[in-house]
Amino acid sequence: MSTSVYVETFGCQMNVADSERAAVRLRDAGYELADKSENADVVIFNTCSVRERAAHKVFTRIGEVSRQRMGATPVFGVMGCVAQLEGETLFESSPAVNLVVGTRATDRLPALIDQALDRQRRVIDLEERGDTDTWDVPAASRTSPYVAFVPIIEGCNKFCTYCIVPFSRGREKSRTAAEIVTEVKQLRDYGYGEIHLIGQNVNSYRPKSEMGLENVKGATMFSRLLRAVAATGMARIKFTTSFPRDFHPDIVAAIEEHENLCNWVHLPVQSGSDRILRLMRRGHTTSDYLRRIATIKNARRQIAITSDIIVGFPGETEQDFRDTMSLVENVKYDGLYIFKYSERPGTPAAKLPDDVSRSEKRTRFLELETLQQRQQKAIYESYIGREVNVLAESVSAKSRSDFTGHTTCHKVVNFPRHELKLGEITRIKITKAKQNSLYGETVAA
Ligand code: SAH
Ligand code: SF4
Ligand code: F3S
Repeated sequence: MSTSVYVETFGCQMNVADSERAAVRLRDAGYELADKSENADVVIFNTCSVRERAAHKVFTRIGEVSRQRMGATPVFGVMGCVAQLEGETLFESSPAVNLVVGTRATDRLPALIDQALDRQRRVIDLEERGDTDTWDVPAASRTSPYVAFVPIIEGCNKFCTYCIVPFSRGREKSRTAAEIVTEVKQLRDYGYGEIHLIGQNVNSYRPKSEMGLENVKGATMFSRLLRAVAATGMARIKFTTSFPRDFHPDIVAAIEEHENLCNWVHLPVQSGSDRILRLMRRGHTTSDYLRRIATIKNARRQIAITSDIIVGFPGETEQDFRDTMSLVENVKYDGLYIFKYSERPGTPAAKLPDDVSRSEKRTRFLELETLQQRQQKAIYESYIGREVNVLAESVSAKSRSDFTGHTTCHKVVNFPRHELKLGEITRIKITKAKQNSLYGETVAA
């Protein structure tokens, strides 16, 4: 019988994409993929360290699985950002672990597991990518048969002072447009209805060569890539995350030109206070940011905007927080992810005193959340009576008789499944709005 491997994924879409690639490489090497930790020979956690709680999750999970597997302990491996950052120390802090795989070693995972199966050894690989490594994941081997993630740039050069990602993921590295376009065409031919171009900062896309972009116009490499990908005819193209400083108006122009470039931009602002933005070293002021928002809002198509905000950054005063509240009130986001500042060892901000108390962070979090919920409710209610196109992605968790999917503006919509098939894009008339989702009925053709 072949050895079975279970991979559990935490963190961002980059980790999801890496786990997918790991699964393909493992299957090619003759391993069997397990869908549960219960009886797998090897259990691997693909980890995230963006906030303290995220980083702790892996230790909790190792403990849980060890208890559940009394007597028949699997080989435990840690991959992803915690692995890259903690390295060797993981063996001491978590003695059950005997395999540590850094963020650039995914293609070597099968060989590393081979070595780790001999339990006498502790195996670690924090090295760079190999020359023959590729990003390729065949269309037929993807996790979701309907929505595919396509990494275009990995790593980050921005070094925002609070953030661990540049340390865990290394410097920015872009794939060539030729490679990306070929992958998107394969996905299109296989029947995919939606792809997400992903990267820590997609609009910092800067490949080493122009391969695949020779005849494509645009003000930046990223807006040229968007046009090249749009030309494949893939039905829906989304992209995330955009970095405000590098958000060129030509991105909006490309969206206006191509219906299949979706009307959703995720543009994290982090704070509404210029003083805090400077301390975060984000490279944008609130007025720079609001200028970009105005360009997006003035587009001929209505484009949804979402964002991330950190509350309680070191030294954040009541006034700084008020500035964040007014920015959010002013922009009116379609969605907002709010995080309490979490000190990450080794980042520049970790040298500043983490002086906003836990209870104050919580108070600010809740106040901002309440404001967002109120504004979001109004936005969602404005969809009632409107018709939207929804990709049917899965059966609704709440009701077996409903499907669930997303609009082009990335809102969740539930609707009766009737005779519809998963993977189809359907015209839906919105009849109800909830806090974070919409409900609608199929429009008769
Ligand atoms: N590259 C993206 C975001 C990557 S991390 C960008 O630049 O916006 C996702 C989000 O986690 C960030 O937008 C930020 O809001 C949050 N985050 C990152 N580090 C954090 C920290 N130390 N404490 C709290 N939230 C953090
Ligand atoms: Fe982190 Fe800033 Fe890079 Fe985003 S841009 S990943 S927040 S350092
Ligand atoms: Fe987390 Fe690493 Fe992504 S720290 S957010 S999994 S890049």
